[in-house]
Amino acid sequence: MWTEESTNAVQKIVTTLSVFCIVFLIRAWWNWQTAGLGLKSIPSKGSLGWPIVGESLSVRRCSGDISFEGWLRERIQKYGTMCKSHLFLKPSILMTTTEEVKFVFDDPHKQMRNGAPESLKRIFGSTSIFSLEGEDHRHVYKILNDSILMPELKKKTAEFNRIMRHSLSSWDGQTLDILKPMQTMIFKLMTFNFFGIPWEGEIADRIASLLYTVVLGPTSLPFYFPGTDFYKAMNAKTRVTELVVPIIRELRSAETGRSSKYARSAEKFPYQNLFNIKFNGGKEMISDTGVCDILLSPILSGGQGPGTVVALAIFHLTKNPSMLQKAQAEVDRVRKQKEELGEADLSVSDLKDLKYLTQVYNEVLRISTIVPGVGRVATTDIHFNGHVIPKGWFMLAPFVLIHMDPELYPEPSKFNPDRFETPPNPGKFLPFGRGYRHCVGRDFTKLVVVMTLYHILSNFTWDVVSCSGKVQYVPFVKMIGDFQLSIKSRTHLL
Ligand code: HEM
Ligand SMILES: *[C@@H]1O[C@H](CO)[C@@H](O)[C@H](O)[C@H]1NC(C)=O
Ligand SMILES: *[C@@H]1O[C@H](CO)[C@@H](O)[C@H](O)[C@H]1NC(C)=O
Repeated sequence: MWTEESTNAVQKIVTTLSVFCIVFLIRAWWNWQTAGLGLKSIPSKGSLGWPIVGESLSVRRCSGDISFEGWLRERIQKYGTMCKSHLFLKPSILMTTTEEVKFVFDDPHKQMRNGAPESLKRIFGSTSIFSLEGEDHRHVYKILNDSILMPELKKKTAEFNRIMRHSLSSWDGQTLDILKPMQTMIFKLMTFNFFGIPWEGEIADRIASLLYTVVLGPTSLPFYFPGTDFYKAMNAKTRVTELVVPIIRELRSAETGRSSKYARSAEKFPYQNLFNIKFNGGKEMISDTGVCDILLSPILSGGQGPGTVVALAIFHLTKNPSMLQKAQAEVDRVRKQKEELGEADLSVSDLKDLKYLTQVYNEVLRISTIVPGVGRVATTDIHFNGHVIPKGWFMLAPFVLIHMDPELYPEPSKFNPDRFETPPNPGKFLPFGRGYRHCVGRDFTKLVVVMTLYHILSNFTWDVVSCSGKVQYVPFVKMIGDFQLSIKSRTHLL
């Protein structure tokens, strides 16, 4: 039985514990609001949102009618530019003006590291370009830059034409959501481009279906237990690696003279220099898995972009019949020209004749900035424009704001390809970023999207069966909901 004494003792303990708890909670709250910095530095106004998740959930809700741009403007209006927030589990600063965005991209004093989320780095691997910094990053970046941009890409266009014809060959008479077949086509184009894997083969099919699972992972939380997207993505990535590493091994031995079926089908493996990479100041030779990760990360990061751009272009052209007509007329003219010359394939030099289609492409990239911003983490206290960005803080540079700035682009919410009659000015058009992490897939994306649109427009007409017209904005633009077209062949019209 309880005596009165013991009851009093319990009461005392409970009271003491309560006081401790309250002090602890206040401290925790204070640490949260000052991000562990105490009174040292609260760089600017802003809201850190909820404990732990901060404003991550609120920004994740940006889709459909709630645009990311609107979310940003609300904060800038309330707190001014360079305001603080809390995103991706880190105290953050929003770097929103053109000057601030450029500062983040250029990192003139080498005070930042890449802000890719933990899940992405774990799935892509430690040799992925997104995980590398400094000298190691420059080394790998240069090899990718030299082998994926235009002069190299030219050699692949004949095969790209073939893949596109093949992928579109079954469209006549179908009702389909074009995003999915576009996605599969791009994955196959990319596994051909990076590993020389024949796109008609069974391996390409298996890899493409695994890639759908892998790409769900980088934007999920890094909880590795059965059932989570992260868990599924990690396992699917392992299976892709198992399929690709034997090919890498074969390509490595082909280098020393032995024959290789993949090296032949890839014509010449353009990434031979990867085999000579040494990390950690030349101490560590790269493994086959390391090479595999370097070549997989462009596929995993960039693989969803081009298909989305194609689908969005079709969406905007369908909504604006006069633009569709104009694009179709241009495509027909080029096609006729080529037929007279006896050429079937589209080549890189034909792109300059597809001027309006290129304008449509640029306008899609502007109005739906596919990657709306980039993130970096301060590796030291950074002083900029009178503010201090403390070490360890996350910086988000949402350049989508530049693309929606009415001073740079009058009526920014209006889809208007005519605004790019003169090619975009690189200073105010940043869909692929800039600086030392400038997207190496920019020529690839343009070539593939414009070529695909050419093939679609020249062969098909369509009626819209259903269309949600909605996108998700964060962390990258993705079409959500239905976009079903009923497709008919239009060759008989010519
Ligand atoms: C619509 C399509 C695409 C868009 C909008 C896009 C956008 C971007 C942006 C904004 C960056 C800069 C990231 C940063 O500064 O941290 C980037 C980096 C990168 N992109 Fe793309 N990209 C697209 C497609 C592609 C494709 C198709 C590939 C591969 C062929 C690719 C490969 C890469 C790689 C490897 C990087 C990393 C560079 C680095 O961190 O050093 N991207 N992309
Ligand atoms: C990447 O390639 C482009 C075009 O060839 C070149 O202008 C640029 O300097 C290269 N960047 C790096 C970092 O090598
Ligand atoms: C378009 O039609 C032409 C003529 O029928 C055909 O040769 C070509 O392969 C078709 N292209 C696609 C992408 O279906």
